[in-house]
Amino acid sequence: MKIVHTIQELRAQLRGQLRTAFVPTMGNLHEGHLSLMRIAANHGDPVVASIFVNRLQFGPNEDFDKYPRTLEDDIAKLEKEGVYVLFAPDEREMYPVPQEYRISPPHDLGDILEGEFRPGFFTGVTTVVMKLFQCVQPQVSIFGKKDYQQLMIIRRMCAQFSIPTEIIPAETVREDDGLALSSRNRYLSADERREAVWLSKTLQQTADRVRQGVAQCQMTVHDVADLEAAAMQVLNHRGWKTDYIAIRRRTDLKTVEADDLSSPDRLVVLGASKLGATRLIDNLEI
Ligand code: PAJ
Repeated sequence: MKIVHTIQELRAQLRGQLRTAFVPTMGNLHEGHLSLMRIAANHGDPVVASIFVNRLQFGPNEDFDKYPRTLEDDIAKLEKEGVYVLFAPDEREMYPVPQEYRISPPHDLGDILEGEFRPGFFTGVTTVVMKLFQCVQPQVSIFGKKDYQQLMIIRRMCAQFSIPTEIIPAETVREDDGLALSSRNRYLSADERREAVWLSKTLQQTADRVRQGVAQCQMTVHDVADLEAAAMQVLNHRGWKTDYIAIRRRTDLKTVEADDLSSPDRLVVLGASKLGATRLIDNLEI
């Protein structure tokens, strides 16, 4: 694997490549990330990964300084996956001058759910992804459904800017008990790790209830709101501090209307909740 730290070296490595498959990450790689590398290998050649902890997408009180940086371990994992180039720029390389030009997602997609609780987050994400795409110029790029809203926002950005990169979604990789893999899971104490399964469990229960209600043609928009509130209560009673549990339309993440309740496969349930100091997110297509 070639490890490059500058945009110039990256471009030199990729000159003439027409089927590049790209996986952007912030490092501290786990099986979820590695599953994206394998999908990339099935869709293109060479596979390029990036590791860059992007300050622009962290709020002032978030974990930018604390975010786990494990480059040596990450390199070993990527070597095993047959990644051709790892792009690991430092901040001066990515942002040599303050990044004043930004890409802002539309408010109705960028300022809801994660965007409501992490103001500016998606502007930080789309700005860095746009810049990484300019550097790598990939034919395809793989994004995890674990970050469902991020995947949707990147897809729409590519469509609206006519970026010639196909976005391929990847299923969420989970621990045996259902906890979605995340770099932030390493912040959890042993007790919190045992408790953490309740986020996916609660989403699963909520999804099951929606499915049952829809199958019996008994589901109303009012019931949707009740199920969201009940799920939040389950978590909060167990000591979590829940930002949202939201049943939304898969296509645009808008709130559910009566028409959407004719078929459950139009819906997704998304959740974000804090366990101690650790904020976890997850979602399930219903
Ligand atoms: P990061 O959190 O490192 O995630 C990189 C990619 O891995 C994202 O597409 C994410 O959805 C995917 N991923 C994370 N956990 C996963 C899991 N359990 N199963 C499957 N895929 C998973 O997302 C980011 O970085 C950043 O916002 C980035 C896009 C790199 C821009 O800075």
